[in-house]
Amino acid sequence: MGAVGVLLTMRYLILTGMVGFASLGLAEERVAPNFSEHVAPIIFQNCTTCHRKGEGAPFEFTSYENIRKRGKLIARVTESGFMPPWHASSKDFKFTGERGLTKAQVETLADWVESGMPEGDSGKVPPLPKYTPGWKLGKPDLIVKMKEPFPVPAAGRDIYRSFVIPLDIRETKWVKAVEFKPGAPEVVHHALFRYDTTGRARQLDARSPTPGFRGMGEGNALGPRSLGGWAVGGSARFLPDGLAYRLPRGADLILDMHFHLSGKLEKEISTVGIYFTDEPPTDVFAAIQMPPRFGALSRVDIPPGVKDYTVEDSFVLPVDLEAFSMSAHAHYLGKSMRMTATLPNGKTLELIHIRDWDFTWQEEYNFSDFVSLPRGTRLDTRVVWDNSANNPSNPHNPPRRVRWGLQSTDEMGSLTVTVKPKNRRDLAALQAALGQHAREHYNARRNRPEPGRARGLWQGIVANIFKSDKDGNGKISREEVPEWLSRSFGKIDLDGDGELSRDELDKAPSRLRR
Ligand code: HEC
Repeated sequence: MGAVGVLLTMRYLILTGMVGFASLGLAEERVAPNFSEHVAPIIFQNCTTCHRKGEGAPFEFTSYENIRKRGKLIARVTESGFMPPWHASSKDFKFTGERGLTKAQVETLADWVESGMPEGDSGKVPPLPKYTPGWKLGKPDLIVKMKEPFPVPAAGRDIYRSFVIPLDIRETKWVKAVEFKPGAPEVVHHALFRYDTTGRARQLDARSPTPGFRGMGEGNALGPRSLGGWAVGGSARFLPDGLAYRLPRGADLILDMHFHLSGKLEKEISTVGIYFTDEPPTDVFAAIQMPPRFGALSRVDIPPGVKDYTVEDSFVLPVDLEAFSMSAHAHYLGKSMRMTATLPNGKTLELIHIRDWDFTWQEEYNFSDFVSLPRGTRLDTRVVWDNSANNPSNPHNPPRRVRWGLQSTDEMGSLTVTVKPKNRRDLAALQAALGQHAREHYNARRNRPEPGRARGLWQGIVANIFKSDKDGNGKISREEVPEWLSRSFGKIDLDGDGELSRDELDKAPSRLRR
């Protein structure tokens, strides 16, 4: 409620003589808010960045007329917390640009709708905030576009494809931000940006009759030639002071994109805005993703109906770091994600908690200040998926077993914290430790194959082997054993009786691994 509202309330209190805390709330409700003084400031500040022409949101909220038209819906979605969209929280830190309405603001909108949405004095409407049409970060220094549209078919499996955009950059540049605008937002699931100075991407592109090419994606969100990325619902952000991506002279921009088909033929022409700085960076940065590779090494295998399938990961920092942003990725079954940092002194801080994962809002969350994470800090991550029928985003009805995979209907899941080493020479040590961390996941997965899956597979093989038990004595002799297994016969024949019992064959995988 603005100053006018408070004044009105005070007058009301004095007039009625109801002075006291208990009556304060009651009295406030009596003042009918109007559009010009009470509603417009809330909407212009919290909604219009997205709800204006040329942005992804469904309708414009720029005038009394177009806001009144959706008044009831506005009251409903602000009451439920669906709008403004914001999915990150932290008990210990603030993020820049946090979106959210106060309880009083939500009530003002509800009261306004209830009292018939009066306009008030139209002369008192605040001016609309200034926006650069089409660009969230203002006018880019360089705007480039895909040369030709890529036709995205109506139906089929998800498409992963890379596109080359020549930049014609004559000197090495420092990049502060990249803003991505999909041409067909319905089907673009994510885009990773990187550069190529070898000309190889151009060759691959030339070889394929349709725009772009398959199979050069690096998959790693912050590889050496990365320029960041974008996913559904993401907004571009400037890197903090002292940091920049390097973009060498003559580099081509590569967009590694993932399309999820919509049921309608679409044509994608992406537009990219690049923001440069003249200041060479003083620091370096890296991404710590947990679990690594979007969970590819974590044996994600979610049975149908399970509402809290959980994967956890821990990583101890080898060097002093300062964290500046967080991001998260999962598909439709994602439910909640949390990352904490337990400092060497035992204190635990909550870096991020996403309580209600929403696939459509994959934003990057920047801390308002650097978060200091000394060497020896342990990061703990927890990702939870809901594969029950109660998850309204579940793409399968009834729910099905879902495993890690590249299709949008498969799952992934991880949190990423972006950090700068306090001492820039520590970057190599951090990267080595991250490599080791990923290798540990990889080895753990190899040595303990997915229990259900591998056992089921082997049992099928054993059943097949017993089909060649010609004399039917329930044991497999050297003559009966298939050729591919004959060399290992001695190892599997535990009791050395020259025949393989069912029990000996069941145990074969663990014997052979040794
Ligand atoms: C960051 C961008 C963004 C901001 C800020 C934002 N919206 Fe939205 N809004 C969207 C998008 C995108 C959709 C479409 C969502 C969808 O279809 O799932 C949407 C949908 C809506 C809808 C339609 C909901 C429905 O059920 O059809 C309403 C009403 C709405 N927003 C109101 C608001 C109000 C009121 C605010 C400010 C308090 C606000 N929005 C702030 C992006 C935004």
